[in-house]
Amino acid sequence: MSYARPTDRAGALRLHLNENTGGCSRAVIEAIRQISADEVAYYPDYTALLRECAAYFGVTESQLVLTNGLDEGLLALTVTAFRLKHASPGLPEAIIPTPAFEMYSVFVNAAGGKVVSVAPRPDFEFQTREVCDAVTDRTRIIFLTNPNNPTGQLIPRDAIREITRGTPSDVTIVIDEAYYDFCGETFLAELGGHSNVVIGRTFAKAHGLAGLRAGCLIGDPARLAPVRDAVPPYSLSVFAAAGWRAALRDREYLDWYRAQVIESRELLYAACTRLGLPYWKSAGNFVLIDVRKSGEPGEIVRAFAERGILVRDRSRDPGCAGCIRITAGVVRHTEIVVEALEGLCAVP
Ligand SMILES: Cc1ncc(COP(=O)(O)O)c(C=O)c1O
Repeated sequence: MSYARPTDRAGALRLHLNENTGGCSRAVIEAIRQISADEVAYYPDYTALLRECAAYFGVTESQLVLTNGLDEGLLALTVTAFRLKHASPGLPEAIIPTPAFEMYSVFVNAAGGKVVSVAPRPDFEFQTREVCDAVTDRTRIIFLTNPNNPTGQLIPRDAIREITRGTPSDVTIVIDEAYYDFCGETFLAELGGHSNVVIGRTFAKAHGLAGLRAGCLIGDPARLAPVRDAVPPYSLSVFAAAGWRAALRDREYLDWYRAQVIESRELLYAACTRLGLPYWKSAGNFVLIDVRKSGEPGEIVRAFAERGILVRDRSRDPGCAGCIRITAGVVRHTEIVVEALEGLCAVP
């Protein structure tokens, strides 16, 4: 399985990749502008960034690995999880409850493992029992996404606890909290009791640093030590390090963007209700909508594109027949997509 980059269209409104549609904080651009020619010529120093990031999350520096986007952290984690145990024969296995962020399977394949998919339940109720039942002595890693992409559903805290209890302690449990900023739900406070749980965070979404690449892993120092060795020592550019520090400090920007997303989600829900389109209330910066009653999702996505709006066809994801996913970003962008949705999916 490979990642197929969705088609872009110059100048289009990008609501297909859960990106931040507001542009990052001005403070980030200013910090990047201040970088000198010498700083560009030298290998970057992450001392200040690591210290400030640890303070931001309220963890120690040894509990944190900074990565070139969360993607890099997830790949490094997969590689090291597969390497840790050689006792059981056969390919190392990764359990992925579906539907799921597509890169998990890409990384598992790249690292030479086997994907064990767990089918969705109706209405995306979390598959706690099925995940526990899928664990074998070859299981090396379990990918949990909280909230889920593409459904926007949260995993109940008790379900995570049950999975940690029902899994051997040498199996890595990733909790990918890429969309934490839009819901505030995190397992961070419980990390202390679970040395095999690693939390993933990204600054691509609420902070708008997708193009800069800024992500991290938070977990037990001993579990993260081999992961740190699997990440190249200068993986973050000097621009990313400077911009990231500025983003950490600009709480006002973060609050503004969060409020925009929350209002945008409500606008999308209201439009779906008016149009009679089923949707799932989302804890992320996107909404999954079942457009089946208005037409074939691929056709509808193409019709949006013709109007200069990119949205994502998710209809081939498990449990997502008939669904498209629309990013909820800046309110004025959402108003544009709502108008298009009303034109394309109007009640006859
Ligand atoms: C669930 C999830 N995890 C990780 C990522 C990747 O984050 P980054 O851009 O920091 O690599 C994404 C991006 O869409 C995502 O949806």
